[in-house]
Amino acid sequence: MPLPVPVLPEGPEGVDPAWLPDEAFRPIGSRRTLIRGWGPLARTAHQNVAEACARFGGRVERDASPGPFDLVLELTPGEDSSEAFTYERGHGRTTVTSSGQRGLLYGLFHVVRLGEAAFREERPRETHRPALALRMLDHWDNVAVHPVMGQVERGYAGGSLFWEEGRARWDLDRVLAYGRLLAACGINAVAVNNVNVHETEARLLTDRIDEVADVAQVLRQYGIRTHLSVTFAAPMVLGGLAGADPLDDRVREWWAETTAQVYQAVPDFGGYVVKADSEGQPGPFTYGRSHADGANMLAAALAPHVGTVHWRAFVYDHRQDWRDRTTDRARAAYDHFLPLDGEFAPNAVLQVKHGPMDFQVREPVSPLISAMSHTRLAVELQATQEYTGQQQHVCWLGPMWSEVLRFGSEEGLPLEELVAVSNVGDDPFWTGHPLAQANLYTFGRLAWQPQADPAGILDEWIGLTFPSAPQRLIDGLHSVLDGSWRTYEKYTAPLGVGFMVQPGHHYGPSVDGYEYSPWGTYHFADRDGIGVDRSVASGTGYAGQYAKPWAEVYESPETCPDELLLFFHHVPYGHVLKSGKTVIQHIYDTHFEGVAEVEEAVEVWASLAGLVEPGRHARVAERYEEQLRSAREWRDQINSYFFRKSGVPDAQGRLIY
Ligand code: GCU
Repeated sequence: MPLPVPVLPEGPEGVDPAWLPDEAFRPIGSRRTLIRGWGPLARTAHQNVAEACARFGGRVERDASPGPFDLVLELTPGEDSSEAFTYERGHGRTTVTSSGQRGLLYGLFHVVRLGEAAFREERPRETHRPALALRMLDHWDNVAVHPVMGQVERGYAGGSLFWEEGRARWDLDRVLAYGRLLAACGINAVAVNNVNVHETEARLLTDRIDEVADVAQVLRQYGIRTHLSVTFAAPMVLGGLAGADPLDDRVREWWAETTAQVYQAVPDFGGYVVKADSEGQPGPFTYGRSHADGANMLAAALAPHVGTVHWRAFVYDHRQDWRDRTTDRARAAYDHFLPLDGEFAPNAVLQVKHGPMDFQVREPVSPLISAMSHTRLAVELQATQEYTGQQQHVCWLGPMWSEVLRFGSEEGLPLEELVAVSNVGDDPFWTGHPLAQANLYTFGRLAWQPQADPAGILDEWIGLTFPSAPQRLIDGLHSVLDGSWRTYEKYTAPLGVGFMVQPGHHYGPSVDGYEYSPWGTYHFADRDGIGVDRSVASGTGYAGQYAKPWAEVYESPETCPDELLLFFHHVPYGHVLKSGKTVIQHIYDTHFEGVAEVEEAVEVWASLAGLVEPGRHARVAERYEEQLRSAREWRDQINSYFFRKSGVPDAQGRLIY
């Protein structure tokens, strides 16, 4: 007797299907599939296939049903937590096996990605497994709308997916659809609230844990574990204790008990994310304790439940005096954390931003990442485009992330985990800008395989999101996305200078916006030159934090790569780059080029009008209008500023104000 076919709860109405449109399931949905083995994610896989079959006329059976099948998904005996799967195609049958629930689901999505090819191309058995164990999205979501930051801090896609009207959403369909998208690109963990933990959100840990449990229960259906950002001061704020000293037994007990209760509500809870002693958040420094003391206290509370603490390394002095040239924010994470290497508990993960500053369009890779060889590390990327166009601009970050992940040696960075700040909200297109979905997808796939070619991932995203697209559309999408990070860099930040943005919200140009601020973010432009001297010989010494050969490469302006020159050195405007241009001419040229590239992209997009679903096309076209306006503003302000400072005319005599 065939079992009744369960159907997925109806998808949220009016929401863009992103990279899982119905059509992507046609190859599976029109064939015969057998699913062998039971369990929660096998059930999810079954639901997905059943739904596709209901739509496209195929058939799906459970277990030992007879009959010839085109696709067999099989759970095999072995490690239940495995995320690996095998794939093979032969004798007219495609077979996916895994010993793990997650592995089986990832195998199904692999078949979806392959599309028709999964049923046509013979393939000997191959094994797929993620290179990194944890692939996590951090949501900077607040439950309550914050008066300055809004609901989602640095969010450019509407309100939160999880929280609405001051509590967890009653209707979590959208969260289920989100889980499905994330599983389809391999993401297995989500932190559901902002690292800046405000009053309301602090309580998610205790009396509001049931709301977290509601969200976790939905994400779990797609193999995603839920994590929570907590405040270091929780024992005081929530527990009524006099302090939060990590070596105080009462504090430790409070955390142990509280954590046990969290696991009562959420048995597969992933753990805590902590921003401590950073930008005003409380931390162990108050008690004269180290960050290892702080992290290890939480690690101890989580250890009996196999949870993890993600302790952020984003620690620096945000009340710096701009007159003080000896303090260098770029040095801070390394200076704070390197002495603690080896002191962190096995279930404490140090979460390090990919660059030493703060998600600028161009930064060197943080030297801390390669230096902490006795500490578990997660690298944190930012999918939300705080400094890269706020999802008004097209800026596909795949190439930047790939450069970061491949840094240093053939094997790339020594990592176990990759985290990104999510760019998703309750916007119908998920990410505000429909093309920003590509960043989310690319993050998941790079976390699965950091050595993958990002351009290949982009094509995968295009193929899934626009199934059966004509070649002209595929080429058009590829061309507007592929070089967009470099284009954005060209019309904004030259040669590794950062923070020439409007203070506070960080959108649009303001060359001196942060120049006399306490945030440690300066470019030091004067009439003779520009850049920050971070050499050992004459600067802040930051270049010396790298191992060889990088310490030497960055130390001298002669060997420092052009794109990072002004990050490491203060040079005259007439300094000649490796490209043969002077710094000032490079600034002019790239700003004109960047805008020209946006103009070109606008035209390409317009030419795709009949080929893209009208709502989506219109949303992108609208954003392009704003991008072009903004890019021209960037070009004119930056060029005028540096022309006025330097007095050097543009060699090509173009219009500068
Ligand atoms: C950036 C961002 C903040 C955020 C911080 C962090 O500075 O502007 O909004 O809180 O990073 O990563 O903690």
